[in-house]
Amino acid sequence: MKRFSSSLLAVAAALVLFSGCSGLLGSKKSDAYSDVLDVAHEKYLASARALDPADGFPRRVVNGTSWETTPAEGWTSGFYPGVLWYLYEESGDRRMLEQARRWTEPLEELKTFTGHHDLGFMVYNSFGHGYRLTRDPEYKEILLQTARSLASRYNPTVGAIKSWDGGKWTYPVIIDNMMNLELLFWAAKNGGDKSLYNLAVQHARTSQREHVRQDGSTFHVIDFDPNDGKVIQKKTHQGYSDASAWARGQAWGLYGFTMTYRETKEPEFLRTAQRIADRFLERMPADHVPFWDFDDPAIPNTERDASAGAIAASGLIELSHFTTDPVRKEAYRKAASDILTGLTASPFMETSLRNPSLLQHSVGSKPHNSEVDAAIIYGDYYLVEALMRVLGETELPWKTN
Ligand code: GLY
Repeated sequence: MKRFSSSLLAVAAALVLFSGCSGLLGSKKSDAYSDVLDVAHEKYLASARALDPADGFPRRVVNGTSWETTPAEGWTSGFYPGVLWYLYEESGDRRMLEQARRWTEPLEELKTFTGHHDLGFMVYNSFGHGYRLTRDPEYKEILLQTARSLASRYNPTVGAIKSWDGGKWTYPVIIDNMMNLELLFWAAKNGGDKSLYNLAVQHARTSQREHVRQDGSTFHVIDFDPNDGKVIQKKTHQGYSDASAWARGQAWGLYGFTMTYRETKEPEFLRTAQRIADRFLERMPADHVPFWDFDDPAIPNTERDASAGAIAASGLIELSHFTTDPVRKEAYRKAASDILTGLTASPFMETSLRNPSLLQHSVGSKPHNSEVDAAIIYGDYYLVEALMRVLGETELPWKTN
């Protein structure tokens, strides 16, 4: 199997990428991260071959041994093919390419799906990587059509895309939705309608104004009145309380505003990403893996959310790149490195091949007692992405933009 990580060239590239202003990514750490990707390769190739997308898309591990799945319309369906694409990019292994295609193509039906806002996660993380790595023109068309479907959920009076339909909400917009904007930015640059760019920017401005608190923490759900665009209420859905800092929401905000800065170069988005990151890092425990909500009064006797750590680590690598102040730049680089050190060690990293996942101890939704202390697919996706960013084994979006 072709392994870029073992080549001198790749190690040198990783050292340059992750060197910041002081301290290099040591070769010991680089080897440890490469070892995790090797384990990932073995686990994901085995499960991809053994399972069938007709039975759904791996979402979380049950009994420490097998993937439980979600249908294509579930918000997490794109992460599993996304991991396969990253592992193909890292290895050049044609068997992984075959599986990445096999697990991506059944998601084509999502191009006309408008049932919720998560089309970025579902389609950009699957077909988006597929197009990036193969230039398959059919994948491009699917991405463009999906972007139009996502945009159909935008209301100009609110200035944001509606996240969910039904339930107790009127027009809910969640901080997580910042992540879905990447599909719209991509589409506007790749033959889609240019208005998709304006729509994404407006959504980010609305989210910046309403989700981000003075102290850099974030609200989870803002419920709007679609008739006048006014805020009805600011609530949580998955956090400890309406006023708390739900760790994964913080991580989505950190990553999402950094990505939005990359796409727009509007300084206010960079400042917002930095404010969220600073608040996130201020509240990290000594082992650098966040608790599921920074305001759970039971801390330290409550669950971690390793997935929030993985998302934040990947976002911090990009944020460090854009940050010009050398002290801050180094702080973000070091924070990403510290988080990855925590996540790639016991008890968060599972290397046994009996367990098909990598990252343990994430929390889906504690208030709903759902996926509490679980291995969840998006934890693996962002961990693999972050390790590949650090090692210089993936095309860095801020370099190709
Ligand atoms: N976007 C849903 C979640 O983070 O759980």
